[in-house]
Amino acid sequence: MDYKQFDAQSQSVWNANMYDDICKTALSRCSLLQQANLDFSRASILDIGCGPGGISQALLRRNKIREIALMDLRVEGLQIAADNLRKIDKDQKLFLIDGDVHHIPLTDNLFSLVISRGSQRFWIDQYRAFQEIHRVLEPDGIAYIGGGRGSSTFQKHRELNDPDWNPESFRRDRHFLKHLPSYLLPDEAYQALFQEWNVPWAIYSNEGDGHWFCWQKRVLEKIPIPG
Ligand SMILES: C[S@@+](CC[C@H](N)C(=O)[O-])C[C@H]1O[C@@H](n2cnc3c(N)ncnc32)[C@H](O)[C@@H]1O
Repeated sequence: MDYKQFDAQSQSVWNANMYDDICKTALSRCSLLQQANLDFSRASILDIGCGPGGISQALLRRNKIREIALMDLRVEGLQIAADNLRKIDKDQKLFLIDGDVHHIPLTDNLFSLVISRGSQRFWIDQYRAFQEIHRVLEPDGIAYIGGGRGSSTFQKHRELNDPDWNPESFRRDRHFLKHLPSYLLPDEAYQALFQEWNVPWAIYSNEGDGHWFCWQKRVLEKIPIPG
């Protein structure tokens, strides 16, 4: 699929609804890790593997955001993503980064939220990618990384109401995805990394809802062992 097709698909009303649903879930999950709520009017957000920008658009529909950095390996998508975001807010402050998650071309401690959907499976070195994301998070910043098509409730609603929804093509799509390379590691590998960092984290792995990793760049206090 070329970028124009991908863009047209991601901009359909029901796909926009899906990105909205994913972001709603993401923000409620992030709030479980946080000590204070994310203030979007002051937030810098990085959308990794942004494609046409569906996730950032959904975030921007919910909130005014101080600045959004869109990053992708495929440079042809970046301007499309920027144009899509400017349709929501023509004055939105944006940065376009032609970059690879394994070597994010930015300095440390920049972002309040790093989000990525549908890109992680392609990251050849998962440790390196997670280390890079952790590096560019500001202290207390949150990462939400993974893939999925919205909550099960949303997907049932879609199946009943989206006139273009075709469960058969969805099944074919899943079958196709199974044959694409996936560099995902077992959950235990990510757990070990979060434990090494000693940060608050959660892994959401629900069949149908997708698979998501969430953590905050905040060192947990060690609880003294009595005695
Ligand atoms: C399936 S698309 C997802 C696009 C968008 N996030 C969405 O949810 O619609 C995956 C995107 O990840 C990008 N990507 C893959 N590997 C990457 C890497 N190592 N660094 C940055 N982007 C990458 C691809 O170019 C592609 O645009």
